[in-house]
This record gives sequence, structure tokens and C-alpha cells, in this order.
Amino acid sequence: MSGTSSSSVLVFFWCAAAICCFIFGLTGVTEAQAPSTQPSQAPTSQPQATTDPSEVKALNSIFQQWGIEANAKQWNTTGDPCSGAAIDSTAFDNGDYNPFIKCDCSDNVTCHITQLKVYALDVVGIIPEELWTLSFLFNLNLGQNYFTGPLSASIGNLTSMQYLSLGINALSGELPNELGKLTDLVAISIGTNYFSGPLPSELGNLSKLQQLYIDSSGVSGEIPLTFANLQSLQTLWASDVELSGSIPDFIGSWLNLTSLMFEGNSFEGPIPSALSKLTSLIELRITDISTTNGSSSLGFIKNMKSLTSLVLRNNNISDSIPSNIGEYQKLSLLDLSFNNLTGQIPPSLFNLSSLSILFLGNNKLNGTLPEKKSSSLLNVDVSYNNLIGSIPSWVNETNLQLNLVANNFTLDSSNSSALPSGLNCLQRDFPCNRGPGLYNNFGIKCGGPQITSSNGIVYEKENETLGPATYFVNDESRWGVSNVGYFTGRNGSTIFSSYLIESTSDSKLFQTARLSASSLRYYGLGLVNGHYTLNLQFSELVIQYVNSQSLGRRVFNIYIQGNLVEKDFDIKKEAGAYFLALQRNYTAQVTENYLEIHLFWAGKGTCCVPTQGTYGPTISAISATLDSTPPVSKKNKIGLIVGIVVGVGVLILVMVIFYIVQRRKSPNNDYDEELLGIDIGPLTFSFSELKTATNDFSPNNKLGEGGFGPVFKGTLNDGRVIAVKQLSAASHQGKNQFVTEIATISAVQHHNLVTLYGFCIEGVKRLLVYEYLENKSLDQALFGKRNLNLDWSTRFDICLGVAKGLTYLHEESRLRIVHRDVKASNILLDSNLIPKISDFGLAKLFDDQKTHISTRVAGTIGYLAPEYAMRGHLTEKSRCVCIWRCSSRNCQW
Ligand SMILES: *[C@@H]1O[C@H](CO)[C@@H](O)[C@H](O)[C@H]1NC(C)=O
Ligand SMILES: *[C@@H]1O[C@H](CO)[C@@H](O)[C@H](O)[C@H]1NC(C)=O
Ligand SMILES: *[C@@H]1O[C@H](CO)[C@@H](O)[C@H](O)[C@H]1NC(C)=O
Ligand SMILES: *[C@@H]1O[C@H](CO)[C@@H](O)[C@H](O)[C@H]1NC(C)=O
Ligand SMILES: *[C@@H]1O[C@H](CO)[C@@H](O)[C@H](O)[C@H]1NC(C)=O
Ligand SMILES: *[C@@H]1O[C@H](CO)[C@@H](O)[C@H](O)[C@H]1NC(C)=O
Ligand SMILES: *[C@@H]1O[C@H](CO)[C@@H](O)[C@H](O)[C@H]1NC(C)=O
Ligand SMILES: *[C@@H]1O[C@H](CO)[C@@H](O)[C@H](O)[C@H]1NC(C)=O
Ligand SMILES: *[C@@H]1O[C@H](CO)[C@@H](O)[C@H](O)[C@H]1NC(C)=O
Repeated sequence: MSGTSSSSVLVFFWCAAAICCFIFGLTGVTEAQAPSTQPSQAPTSQPQATTDPSEVKALNSIFQQWGIEANAKQWNTTGDPCSGAAIDSTAFDNGDYNPFIKCDCSDNVTCHITQLKVYALDVVGIIPEELWTLSFLFNLNLGQNYFTGPLSASIGNLTSMQYLSLGINALSGELPNELGKLTDLVAISIGTNYFSGPLPSELGNLSKLQQLYIDSSGVSGEIPLTFANLQSLQTLWASDVELSGSIPDFIGSWLNLTSLMFEGNSFEGPIPSALSKLTSLIELRITDISTTNGSSSLGFIKNMKSLTSLVLRNNNISDSIPSNIGEYQKLSLLDLSFNNLTGQIPPSLFNLSSLSILFLGNNKLNGTLPEKKSSSLLNVDVSYNNLIGSIPSWVNETNLQLNLVANNFTLDSSNSSALPSGLNCLQRDFPCNRGPGLYNNFGIKCGGPQITSSNGIVYEKENETLGPATYFVNDESRWGVSNVGYFTGRNGSTIFSSYLIESTSDSKLFQTARLSASSLRYYGLGLVNGHYTLNLQFSELVIQYVNSQSLGRRVFNIYIQGNLVEKDFDIKKEAGAYFLALQRNYTAQVTENYLEIHLFWAGKGTCCVPTQGTYGPTISAISATLDSTPPVSKKNKIGLIVGIVVGVGVLILVMVIFYIVQRRKSPNNDYDEELLGIDIGPLTFSFSELKTATNDFSPNNKLGEGGFGPVFKGTLNDGRVIAVKQLSAASHQGKNQFVTEIATISAVQHHNLVTLYGFCIEGVKRLLVYEYLENKSLDQALFGKRNLNLDWSTRFDICLGVAKGLTYLHEESRLRIVHRDVKASNILLDSNLIPKISDFGLAKLFDDQKTHISTRVAGTIGYLAPEYAMRGHLTEKSRCVCIWRCSSRNCQW
């Protein structure tokens, strides 16, 4: 979260160092050689001991029902589950062993299964009753699958349980009271499920509980009074659950609490002042509490000097910014936006040594901006306040993100030239082109290039890089956009999709979409006053339909001219599925020459499915037209409504039938129908097309032989020069899974990664089509006969480029990919000697004997915690190895 930026910098340098090792002569150092075990916590093995027969029976039956089995090369080597890696020093949370068990054989006769992991394997099914007979289990991780049905009361029989993760599944029904019997529990995650009903008061018996993750779990109601006993709690993540009542005072007695998240609940304010005792808090997020019971003050944060992230957004806090704010030296993220803060901004706030993100938008702050700003503070939102005065000199700092929209600053050419242009139009009351108005319509292609729709509407290009606090006004001052919000766990504010939406004649409109982590506003400017019809177009492009990936919910609110028109708007739900176009029409009254459309995230929806940072508003296109014709008659309106209702009904029916048909199929079938949901058209190539392009895979066109098969150069009919990789290794995946994987890999794009154009599947043939890079691979450049003049500064740039690419894969891309086979032959050079990493993400397609499985560290909040394997565990490890190898070889870096 808050530490991500600094850790990225570290990774960057570490990896840069590691890579330089081999570029400067030490080839062959690969991440894949990393030893992946940790120091042993498992008891030593006794060859004669065997697994308790009833446990063997239960485990085999469970795995059979789930359609999975032990990897025989890793464990269950003898047919007895407690064998091989299950009893040696292999760490339970080693990502390469999955599914996995660990056993305790310490009495030298019988082994018992103590740990069980079936993690992120997308298993579909119920949890069989037999699981609850494995009474020696103390660590159970079933996170990120698609388990359905209720949680059995028999879970209470596993009284040794310490770490229980059921996060990201489709479990339903009420939580069993018997959970309260697991009094040894240290960590429990039930986040992102379909549970219902209240939190059992028996959970208050779990006096050793340190971590409780119930975010997006479906539970509701008040927090039981018995929770006052949870004195050991360190972490409570309870965002996006319908918790009601007031936030209990007893939370103030959980003195060991370091992380508390209450976002998008149904709590009523005010925030209790009893929380002031929580001085160990490092991260505190309380947002969107209802304020019918009165407003809150900021007094309770007075002694929380350990905070690094403080988010108190949208709580109607009526107070001024504390004058001691300068004492919060660890604070890196502060979000007090959408409150009722008054008074001036204390200069000390802009001088905090660690603060990098500051959101103060939508308050009633007055006075001027501080004269000085620390160099670490790079994202500042003060939009929608009552600030005045001139623009300070620091606004020209590079990399600064500054949103000043809707204040009343004094702009003159000397100071405002350093700002992005157009602020004069986005000052309070939008003063540009007031009066008769210049325009009676506008169209915006949110996050993409200009497109003229089939019915002739021009959607103007809006492809700016909108950072965490930015605004933009188009050249004609016809429309503008303002964005605020910092994604935890994701980069960028634009979605690109290579899929073509079929349900509309304007599918191009949906190939890009704008995305915001908090608040996104579009403005029509200089409009003729009158009634407008506003058309908004949406499509869900990220949350998909496959098993656990379908569990995500994106939920936001829409305001037009300040009026709430959609509450808890969920595109996927409204459209019936993802990858469908959804249009909404609204009427809007323009009285002062401007129109404001505000998309607002109120803390609801899941945060991290399918990947970190999948939340917040998204929109594809906006158009507005002045109504010239008289309003439609009532009769027509009824007709229209009936039409829409029937249409939507039929659509939903079709989706339901589609869904049922899907569910009935056996999960292992290699069938094509599942592909119907996505149009992978632009990614597919026919075999004959590739055959022609490569001159029938002529040996003359052969570029080399990679780890996955031979590579040929070719030229497509459209002139693109390509590299075609013929996959020789047998893929362990079905066709549809393969395609989904390729589609995802192709979406990972970066300057320093080779672009995947598409693929070809015909029969057993599987080919991948990449961009062609003239200067081939780095090993050829370094050691080959060719005469590439790689001077030291070029080598340095190559290093840096590779490090950037790796950092992107590890830290910044939506999917976190660990390459696991970085070597000079996998680094290609383009005509400008810019390095591009190839073969990333591919390891996942193949059997592990052939290559090395690249485990996707999905890093979803709330389900990794049980084994303390917080986000990025795998990457972390590979990093250490990176450094160690470097230093052990005396690298100069
Ligand atoms: C262990 O191996 C035996 C024999 O090969 C097999 O029948 C059983 O299903 C395996 N158990 C698991 C959990 O994979
Ligand atoms: C099992 O064997 C180990 C070493 O052989 C021994 O130290 C230990 O005491 C034995 N445990 C029992 C319960 O007999
Ligand atoms: C759990 O314990 C109860 C009571 O001892 C027993 O009736 C039930 O069968 C047990 N459940 C399982 C799955 O063993
Ligand atoms: C709180 O943390 C301290 C220090 O880690 C520990 O000694 C203490 O036992 C904890 N308190 C509770 C109630 O767990
Ligand atoms: C905002 O704060 C001011 C001054 O503290 C107060 O008078 C006003 O009622 C508050 N507004 C709301 C909406 O609570
Ligand atoms: C800011 O607002 C406060 C009331 O909230 C008022 O007392 C003060 O004079 C104002 N300051 C300026 C500079 O306008
Ligand atoms: C910003 O402007 C100030 C004067 O207004 C100037 O001294 C400073 O060099 C400028 N900095 C940058 C990065 O342009
Ligand atoms: C902005 O400030 C000026 C004085 O500097 C004032 O005349 C004007 O009314 C203010 N505008 C708004 C919208 O408050
Ligand atoms: C926006 O699109 C234009 C071409 O229409 C392109 O030149 C420009 O680089 C794009 N801007 C961004 C930030 O991608």
C-alpha cells in the first residue's frame, strides 16, 4: 500500500543490479534457479511412519471431488500422502507446491495432515464434509477458488486451527456459530464471499485472534458486543460489508491494532472519540459513514503518530485540519476529502517529510495554498474548496500532480503558465464562455482516440495520462475532465481491451475506458442553457466471468449536476455480464453554461478481484445534446420503458440460460463454447496465414530455438513483421484456458516487454505471434558474430530498460508475473537497442517438468494473510536471491 512506491524503487535497483551481473559478463544467472524453500518448520521424517488411514481416505476423496491431485513428483510419491515434500523441509507456502499438505509424524508411527493448501486453483465445488474430519489441521488455505454452498457447522471440530483462509470463494449462508470453538485461531479470512446474516457473537471467544478479514464477505448487521474480547487483534479489514449501527467504542480498547479498515459500510457517525487510544495504528481507513447522527471531529487522531496511511473520506467531518499535523512524520497518504473541513491549510502539512499523497478535495477550506512544499509531496488535490490567492512557485515542479479545480485562485500569466492549461475554465462556477453559450452538444471518448459512432456522433479524443490528481480541458474549451484518486495496487487510469464487444454496432467505443480510484468528473463547458439529453456508455472490461474471477464487484455512484442519479451502480449487474455494452440516458438542466457528470466511488465493491486495484468508477463514452424537439409524450415514454424492461428481461434470461448451460458442463472439457463470452477475434491468426507469412516455416526464416520451441520470422499481409513461436511443449491446459491466458498476457504491455500480437490454435498446434525485433537477443548481441557496437553507456541503458520491464512485471502490471527465466537470450533488442523482455507469463502454460511454473501472485487483499505470505511473497524471495547471487559473484553493482 503506502510503502509500494519506495519498495518499487528498491526492487528496481536490486533487479538492475542483478541483471547487470550477467549483462556485464555473467550470463546464465536465472531467477529460476532460485532455491524456493525456506528454513524448515516441519518435523523430520521417519520413513516407517505412515498417514492415518482415515485421513488418507478423506484426503483422496476430497481431492477426487475437486478434480485435483498431488503432483506425484513433489509428494504422495509412495501413494501415501505424508511423503516427499509433505514431510521434508519444503515450506508450506512455497508457491510451486499447490495443492499441498504438510504432515506431522513426530510419534514415529502415524502421520497426521496438519496443513492443507488448495490455493487459487479455481476449483469449483462444495467443501466436502470429510474435510472437517482432518482434526489435526492447524493451517487451511482454500483461498481464491470457487467453493459454493454453506460453511458446515462441523468446522468447529477442527479445534487445532490457527490459520484459516476461505477468502475469495462463492460460499453462502450464515457463518456457523461453531467458528467460535476454534479458540486457537490466529488469523481468519472469509473476505469476498456470498455469506449473509450477522457476525456470530461466538467469534468473541477467539481471544488469540490477531487478523480478521471480512471485507466483501456479505455479512451484515452490528458488530457483536462480544467482540470487545478480541484484545489481540492487530488487523481488521471490514470494508464493503453492510455493518450497521455505530462504530463501537470498545474498538478503542484493542490496543494492539495496527490496521483498521471500515470503507463503504453502513455505519452511522460520528466516529467515536474512544478510538484515540489506538496509538499503534499504522493504517486507518474509515470512509462513507452516514451522518444523520451528527458530524465527527478529528480530535481522535491526536496521538496516532505512527500512521502511514490515514483515509477519512466522505464522513462529513466538521473540523479544521489539526494544527499539530506537522508531527505525523510517518504519514505518506492522507485523504480527508469529501468532508466539511473549514479554515486554512496549515503550512506544516505541506512540509511533512514522508507525505506523498494528499487529498483535501471537496471541503470548505479557505485561505491560500502554502508557500512551501516538501519535495516528497507529489500528489495534491485541493479541488472544490474555497481557496483563493495566487499560485505558489512550486507548481512547476516536475512529476507534481496538482488538482486545483473549482476554487477561486487569481490566475495571471506569470504564475499559471506552469500549470496545465484550462484552469481558468475550471475555476469555481466554470467561468469560461458564459452567457449565450457556444455549443449545444459534446461527445467524449473517455480514455481513448476520437471515434465517430454509427449514428454520427463524434466522440472526441480524451487520451490524457490522468494521474492521481489531475485535470484537463480540451483545446476548444468545450469539455474538461478532473480526476482524483490513488489506486492501491494498480497503476494507470486507462483500461485497454483487445476484445471487441459484440453487443453494439460501436464496439470501438469500448476498447478503452477511463478508470478512477475515487472521483472522476467530466464537464461540458460553454453550453447553451437548456434541457440536455445525456448519454453515458459503460462496459465492464476487467471483472470476468470465469469462476473466482467473476467474484469481483465494481460499484460506484453517479451524480449529474450534483444530483445522485445512480447509487451503487454495478455495470456488470446492470448489463447482465461483463464485456457487454451498457447505455444510460439522463436528462440534465443546464442553467449556467456547464454540465457536470460526477462518477464517485463510495468504498463499495470488491477491491482486488481479479487483481489488486480493481475498483472505482469506469466509463467509456459520454455524449450530450440540447433537446430541440419537445419532450416525448407520456405514451411514448411508457412504450420506451416497456421496451427497455422487456429488452433487459430477455437479455437477463439469455444470460441465465447461458450460465446454466456453462455450469452443467464438465470443467475439464476442451470445449469451444466457453470462448463465446469473449471475442478474441483481433488476437487470432489462422495457421495458413502464419504459414504464408513464414514461407511455410522455412528454415531460412528460423530465428532461433527458444525454451518453448522454434521461432520463425514472417511478414503478414498487412506488412507487419512478426516472430512466430511454435510451441513444442505440451500445454497442460485446455484450449479455453490457454486462450484466456494468452488474452491476459497480451494485455500486459510495456515499453520494455515484447508485444504479443496474438496466437493460433488449430488442432494440437499452438503458435504465438510476437512483434519482430531486429537486433535479436542480447546474448547474440554480446557473444554473437554480429557487429553491434555495445558501448558501456548502451549497456547501462539496456540494464535499466530490463530492470524497468521486470519492475513492471513484478510490481506494476495488473497481473503480477514472475518471469522465472530471465536470461540474456530472453532479452531482445529493437532497432534502437531498446531491450524488451520476452517469454514472460509463458511458463504458466506448460507442465512444470518442461519449464518452471510462473505462479501468479494474485496478491489479493484478505486471503494471503493466513500464512503471513502477504502480497508479493514469491517476488520478494526471488529478489533476495537476485542480490545474493550478485554479491556472491563480486559484482561491481
Ligand atoms: C496419492 O497416490 C495414490 C496412488 O498413486 C492415489 O490413488 C491418490 O489419489 C493420491 N492422493 C492424492 C491426494 O493425490
Ligand atoms: C521419534 O524418533 C526420534 C528420532 O529417531 C526420537 O528423537 C523421538 O523421541 C521419537 N519420538 C517418539 C514419540 O518416539
Ligand atoms: C463433528 O463433531 C460432531 C460432534 O462430536 C459430530 O457429530 C460430527 O459428526 C463431527 N463432524 C465431522 C465432519 O466429523
Ligand atoms: C499486544 O502486543 C504486545 C507486544 O507485541 C504483547 O506482548 C501483548 O501480549 C499483546 N496483547 C494482547 C492482548 O495480545
Ligand atoms: C460544516 O461546518 C460548519 C462549521 O463548522 C457548520 O456550521 C456546518 O453546519 C457544517 N455543515 C454540514 C453540512 O455539516
Ligand atoms: C476562513 O473561514 C473561517 C470560518 O470557517 C473564517 O473565520 C476565516 O476568516 C476565513 N479565512 C479567510 C482567509 O477567508
Ligand atoms: C520553477 O519556477 C521558479 C521561479 O518561478 C524557478 O526558479 C524554478 O527553477 C522553476 N523550476 C522548474 C523545475 O522549472
Ligand atoms: C472569486 O474572487 C473574486 C475576487 O477575487 C470575486 O469577485 C468573485 O466573486 C469570486 N468568485 C466566486 C465564484 O466566488
Ligand atoms: C493521444 O493520442 C494522440 C494521437 O491521436 C497521440 O499522439 C498522443 O500521444 C496520445 N496521448 C497519450 C497520452 O497517449
